[in-house]
Amino acid sequence: MAAKSAIRSESGKVRRVVVVGGGLAGLMTTIKLCEAGVPVDLFSLVPVKRSHSVCAQGGINASVNTKGEGDSPRIHLEETAYGGDFLANQPPIKGMTDAAPGIVYMLDRMGVPFNRTPEGLLDFRRFGGTLFHRTAFAGATTGQQLLYALDEQVRRYETLGVDDDNGIAIPGEKMVRKFEFWDMLSLIKDEQGVCRGIVAQDLKNMQIEAFPGDAVCLATGGPGIIFGKSTNSVINTGTAASAAYQQGACYANGEFIQVHPTAIPAADKLRLISESARGEGGRVWVPKSPNESRRGRDVPESERDYFLERRYPGYGNLVPRDIASRELFLTCFHEGRGVYNTRTAKNENEVYLDLTHIPKPTLKRKLAGILETYEKFVGEDPYENPMRVFPAVHYSMGGLWVDFERSADGSLVHDSPRNHATNVAGLYAAGEVDYQYHGANRLGANSLLSCLWGGMVTGPAMVSYRKNMGRSAYDASSSLFDGAKKREQAKYDAILKMDGPENPFKLHAELGQMMLIDVTIERHNERLDEVIAKIDELDERQRRVSVLDTSSRMNQSAQFVRHLSNMIVLARVIAQGARNRDESRGAHFKPAFKERDDANWLRTTMAMHREGPNGHGEVTYVRELSYAIAGKTLTVSDSVDVGLVTPRPRKYEQAGAANAAAPAAPKAGDASAKPAVSV
Ligand code: FUM
Repeated sequence: MAAKSAIRSESGKVRRVVVVGGGLAGLMTTIKLCEAGVPVDLFSLVPVKRSHSVCAQGGINASVNTKGEGDSPRIHLEETAYGGDFLANQPPIKGMTDAAPGIVYMLDRMGVPFNRTPEGLLDFRRFGGTLFHRTAFAGATTGQQLLYALDEQVRRYETLGVDDDNGIAIPGEKMVRKFEFWDMLSLIKDEQGVCRGIVAQDLKNMQIEAFPGDAVCLATGGPGIIFGKSTNSVINTGTAASAAYQQGACYANGEFIQVHPTAIPAADKLRLISESARGEGGRVWVPKSPNESRRGRDVPESERDYFLERRYPGYGNLVPRDIASRELFLTCFHEGRGVYNTRTAKNENEVYLDLTHIPKPTLKRKLAGILETYEKFVGEDPYENPMRVFPAVHYSMGGLWVDFERSADGSLVHDSPRNHATNVAGLYAAGEVDYQYHGANRLGANSLLSCLWGGMVTGPAMVSYRKNMGRSAYDASSSLFDGAKKREQAKYDAILKMDGPENPFKLHAELGQMMLIDVTIERHNERLDEVIAKIDELDERQRRVSVLDTSSRMNQSAQFVRHLSNMIVLARVIAQGARNRDESRGAHFKPAFKERDDANWLRTTMAMHREGPNGHGEVTYVRELSYAIAGKTLTVSDSVDVGLVTPRPRKYEQAGAANAAAPAAPKAGDASAKPAVSV
């Protein structure tokens, strides 16, 4: 039986839902909930405006077709499915690509300072995996502009009161209560396994609290920090997803980790140099001579190997990321042709990304953000010198398994409580933390889109779920929340007492190094076996760490001990998933199994956690899953819905491979730098 009031619980409390994560997906989910009159408690590890979405650079895809190339949402769907090597369910992609133009127009109305053409239209640039100009952009800081625009919208709801069922303002209540610098520790599940809220820790004073929520959405981003250095922010440890997984949420396609071809090699973090650099005509090359000792800019044209253009004349520098990264890896690592360093007398694992042929004013207008970053961290002027770059872990296609309900036209049923629902009743996931849209390889500039679209779907889905739920979480017994809080407090107290011989940061470095070397671009089963054994060893050793800091305020070290433990759990899911999948598909490449194997592996990897006999987490992989939603029990399988675009072999050597209606291939290095109207 549905609860009597949409706003108040039986006991008179305001019924709120919980959103964890203040990036684009979390903010959009929050906005949609508020539009429907549902009050939200919004949690974020960092100030919302420092969520990792802020780092997104190149743009957001939408087939607006302002340049008259014949682009359409249908082609965007085809190219996304094709780019993802057909591992993504296609109805959610269709929903997303159909909605994309409207989303970009909405962002424009919100005030996002998108680049425009001289006649005032939104400008679009090229990105990987397509020949169309489909990517709307705000210089090379698009994520930041989008995040700030959504943040403003949410701030409005922070000041807006909550009305009761009669439209009368409830004193002291606001539509959004924001909790910045809070770390989600666990879900609160009742005896029926329904998610009733979260336990979180205030990272300023380290207090632990339980928060009821009629439904919970995780929008907590990806787990890139498991790989040590990456383009991700240090908050992207995957800790909340791991906690949910350990409490029964299924984790899907974990082995699909995207490596971005072009980042700045560095000792601390790998700063991204956006794909938009190539979208604007940037060219990747290495000297033909492996011992070339001249500076990049002094190497004559005839002595350069533009290896992407040579091997992929159709898409050239804009082949999808999985392919580009593998080619860079091949060139540097296997062929030993990376840029020669006269100081170390070594071929480094670096290639040139060259923009020097593009007029400076164009670069300034379109790419200033990343070029400043390059100059600042490398100390060299990228307007005059080819940049030196190499691949870096960037994104997780895998994440928490979420459902969808297919509509008659092959898209999503609007408002279905199944959309973005995990298998834990009452728990939703949106953004990079879910696995839904990108299959085995995400196309560049589809991530901002999937975050926003994910939020636009998840909000209404949670509203539907909440409408149909029985008792509100706010009427659950207080012992449920007290018990959950006590359990987490006890765990935290135990962390503070840890004074063993191991250093958690060193263990993380070991984990990251091994995951980076053996579970990214190239995967070999013997090495993966070693990785899995090593993860077990690290799991053992992390029980003997020293917490290093016992202070009661802003204790980042104690927090890190918890995150490390959660990272080790997800590392096992990723590595074991890679070990099992004996084929090559998208970002998952095994030289011993070079081909895609649809007969055996056109299926979602669905990982479930169970406690092993020695206290280690064990991963079990299931082919089917039953879960309860809206009073029904549904059984779903690992098969992929490919009913809209028939799987076929993926090849990018020729133009238009991903669709039937692509425009003629631009000539390498020039046409994409000279889009039809806007330079
Ligand atoms: O290269 C980039 O600008 C990154 C975009 C993305 O990951 O979508």
